[in-house]
Amino acid sequence: MTDPVQIRPLAPGDLDAARDIYNQAVETSLASWDLVPLSPAQWRDWLAQHSSGGQVVLVATAGDELLGFAAYGPFRSKAGFSDTVEDSIYLRPTARGQGLGGRLLGQLTDQAASRGVHVMVAALAAENLASIRLHDRLGFQVSGRLPQVGQKFGRWLDLVLMTRRLDDRPPAAPLGAGAAAGPMP
Ligand SMILES: CC(C)(COP(=O)(O)OP(=O)(O)OC[C@H]1O[C@@H](n2cnc3c(N)ncnc32)[C@H](O)[C@@H]1OP(=O)(O)O)[C@@H](O)C(=O)NCCC(=O)NCCS
Repeated sequence: MTDPVQIRPLAPGDLDAARDIYNQAVETSLASWDLVPLSPAQWRDWLAQHSSGGQVVLVATAGDELLGFAAYGPFRSKAGFSDTVEDSIYLRPTARGQGLGGRLLGQLTDQAASRGVHVMVAALAAENLASIRLHDRLGFQVSGRLPQVGQKFGRWLDLVLMTRRLDDRPPAAPLGAGAAAGPMP
């Protein structure tokens, strides 16, 4: 039987439905620590940031319905972090609990690995057990917990950082290595 769920790059026609899914999570959950829904312009900025390295935002669809999306963007802005990214994954409530998160995250890590990403980070509310479990299943390990670094719905929130290394390559040679590495002539 043909799989009714298709995973493909985000298309312009998906923008509004993807924003609805994200904003529903903003308003009802700890999945995003945005406190108010994103406007269309803010959403376009979010998408631009999550495709700035040439990667695509992935969506899952069934027929005409957008079920969810997954994306990665910069982890931190300084150049030394350029081989590390942070993921985001959001499903509409009716699409959760059926393994779709794993399919999207699997394709996202494949895309990242093929584009030379060294480490993917997930930064999650400590209470988001479904997402922690999902990332654990996809090979991420808990690498730290930052107590009370956020707040939402009138509560302080702990952030759990999970990481997965996507390759074993050595780091790039230091800038100016030729001059600095050996003894002075
Ligand atoms: C987090 C999310 C992407 C997971 O995707 P999913 O397809 O629903 O994931 P799964 O159905 O494979 O469930 C993940 C695991 O968490 C478990 N789980 C689900 N809800 C849970 C809960 N409340 N407590 C503990 N475990 C839970 C599931 O049993 C499953 O465990 P398993 O791997 O042992 O089978 C999805 O639920 C979602 O979009 N949530 C809202 C947005 C969000 O939190 N995004 C992550 C932050 S970026």
